[in-house]
Amino acid sequence: MSTEKIQRVGVIGAGQMGAGIAEVCARAHIDVLVFEQTRELAAAGRSRILRSLDRGVSSGKITEREREQAAWRLRFTSDLADFADRQLVVEAVLEDEKIKTAIFRELDEVVTDPNAVLASNTSSIPIMKIGIATKNPERVLGLHFFNPVPVLPLVELVTTLKTSTEVAQRAEAFASDVLGKQVVRSADRSGFVVNALLVPYLLSAIRMVESGFATKEDIDKATVLGLAHPMGPLALTDLVGLDTVKSIADSMYEEFKEPLYSAPPLLMRMVEAGLVGKKSGAGFYQYTDKNGRVAK
Ligand code: 3HC
Repeated sequence: MSTEKIQRVGVIGAGQMGAGIAEVCARAHIDVLVFEQTRELAAAGRSRILRSLDRGVSSGKITEREREQAAWRLRFTSDLADFADRQLVVEAVLEDEKIKTAIFRELDEVVTDPNAVLASNTSSIPIMKIGIATKNPERVLGLHFFNPVPVLPLVELVTTLKTSTEVAQRAEAFASDVLGKQVVRSADRSGFVVNALLVPYLLSAIRMVESGFATKEDIDKATVLGLAHPMGPLALTDLVGLDTVKSIADSMYEEFKEPLYSAPPLLMRMVEAGLVGKKSGAGFYQYTDKNGRVAK
């Protein structure tokens, strides 16, 4: 196996998860290449990362110089062929199996290191479904980060029936020794450990709102004050994105046929209405300023 330390990482997608993953890699002195489909999406991704780095400076977590150096380590491309020399690639696009498998098929052709780690940040799609889209499923595994990525210390590592031990060890060493994350391992089951626990809870809170059991404000207040959670389930659904919560629930329902995992109608209607949470300006709560601009 290649013993070369991972120094060149690729991130596919610069949405809230991809941007967070790219940022923590750049802050860990890694050369990061980020794929986005268009210049506009790449520019939005870059400014998302720069805003978060600014926040790191203002809260005293990083210095101005570290901010500059991290920003300098980030490059963007809209051509996957540029990923040929990457030693680790983390895909963080929409929770859509067809899109993800198409990306992995192409990545597998492009990335030359036979021991490169091809990782998906999927929240719920079984990794084997992604691995079999490639000719080298031993390189494919799940590396699941948590939002906000710079703040939350956990990464779930998910290996499949085909992932090689060496590739899994290489990914684990990178996440823990280079990024400083705590790694837990999960079987390759939809939802892995955290979402298998979290999503039924979020869906239950949405069902409570739907049935008039309690108001959204009181449900959130109850869990913050009564369970010491940092935020309530409806605010958290807004943070994760209602579309993402629905996609995770759909994958878990498909896997287990468990009624607790089925998306409640209120969630489906809100997603259809575009009320997908903080990133869209509205979900269970409003996130726009007085001029109607989406709060960042
Ligand atoms: N980037 C960088 N730093 C950030 C940040 C971001 N996006 N958001 C918050 N921070 C930092 C702040 O700078 C601050 O740092 P400091 O304490 O050193 O000053 C610290 O985090 C706390 O932030 P705030 O004071 O602004 O706000 P809160 O104290 O209310 O914390 C929160 C905000 C970190 C989001 C906290 O409410 C929280 O941890 N919530 C739970 C989030 C959670 O459960 N995430 C997991 C979702 S599930 C998931 O991601 C999996 C997926 O598959 C669905």
